[in-house]
Amino acid sequence: MRTEPSLPQNLDPLAGRRVLVGISGSIAAVKLPLVVSALVKRGAEVRCVLTPSAAALVSPVALASLSRQRCYLDADQWSHTAPRPLHVELAEWADLVLLAPLSATTLGRWIHGLGDTLLASLLLATEAPVLAAAAMNTAMWGSPGVAANWKALAGFERVLPLGPAEGLLACDREGAGRMAEPSLLLLALESLASWGWHRDWQGRRLLVSAGPTREWFDPARCISNPSTGQMGVLLAQAARLRGAQVDLVHGPLQLDPAWLEGLTAYPIETGAELQDALLELQPQVEAIAMAAAVADHRPVQRFAHKPDKEELAAAMAAGWAPVPDLLAQLVRQRSAPQPILGFAAQSGDVLSQARAKFLRKGCDLLFANPIDTPGAGFGTATNEGWLLGPGEAVDRLEPMGKLPLAHVLLSALQKLLP
Ligand code: CTP
Repeated sequence: MRTEPSLPQNLDPLAGRRVLVGISGSIAAVKLPLVVSALVKRGAEVRCVLTPSAAALVSPVALASLSRQRCYLDADQWSHTAPRPLHVELAEWADLVLLAPLSATTLGRWIHGLGDTLLASLLLATEAPVLAAAAMNTAMWGSPGVAANWKALAGFERVLPLGPAEGLLACDREGAGRMAEPSLLLLALESLASWGWHRDWQGRRLLVSAGPTREWFDPARCISNPSTGQMGVLLAQAARLRGAQVDLVHGPLQLDPAWLEGLTAYPIETGAELQDALLELQPQVEAIAMAAAVADHRPVQRFAHKPDKEELAAAMAAGWAPVPDLLAQLVRQRSAPQPILGFAAQSGDVLSQARAKFLRKGCDLLFANPIDTPGAGFGTATNEGWLLGPGEAVDRLEPMGKLPLAHVLLSALQKLLP
């Protein structure tokens, strides 16, 4: 699991939260100790509940040690010394429930209202939001009973269902069934803690651009910028968790590839490739967020071989061609109402430069952030700035994590959807 820049605890939506981790019988259970450890490091209080099959796959002792709490098994459910049933105690204790992996059996029990294990009865008793990450063999995942149960789960209040990814499974099958990676589980849980489970983007299609572009002089040298792609990818993933179908066109990213799960990704490198991808996708989507940090110029002369530095200096002196303003182009050529969010990374007086840029680009919303303030801009876990639009509106956005910020921007964009 790659480590992204970490949020300070005072801005982390997971810090201080009581997270109940419910683990059921799928081999993906072996990944949960990593998640529990990461949650504790982020300041969450964690308790783990295992089904008998889960306890055969992952060590309750390891989970107790990593969560700094005793681990709960079916044998603990009923005790003549406990004044209240354990499943009710735990259900009421939790602020959030992470149900991962969710097996076919536990899903079936939950959907049909059966409470015949500690975890099953806890799921019926809890009123906390639940992130449910399914994992199972491909054929089981595709079987009509499981498919019907999964569909029914989408209608449950307070549940954020996270479908499995495709890949090579432990049963040697290739296909859908792999549990979302631990880093995506943590992201989705942070999303549940900061935004909730409402799918207000359901049935909508959003196009997001993210990351830097590169303009090449030759096979070894290029001009680019320090964008990691984090803001755009988080915006895309947040929209997906809110139900959107998301197309993500992205330059070279510096972040965990698991954050792309569930998105339709189109990797590009140059401004021209970004332009081609955006113009092709534009007619198919209902809204656009242009978070890509587009390199503004490309060298006029591009070599197929690697020239020596004198030849390169001569080529640089030969000049630069502007990369067209893609955001302004998307605004100009939309044929139907299609809200567009732009970004502006500025140094110095952010707001006055942002106002001018907002007018120049013609987009409906523009988020402008400083790049010369600690904790804001490129490669940071947090950001702050101003949201301009719609119209004359200007909102100051105080420092917050980039995922909560993505949710604020998505809510503003969602209000403009036709
Ligand atoms: N943008 C774009 N095409 C470009 C440059 C930028 O679509 N050639 C988009 C970015 O994706 C972002 C917004 O325009 O949404 C503002 O990017 P920024 O680099 O701040 O704007 P520039 O027009 O390049 O202005 P500056 O002169 O400040 O670099």
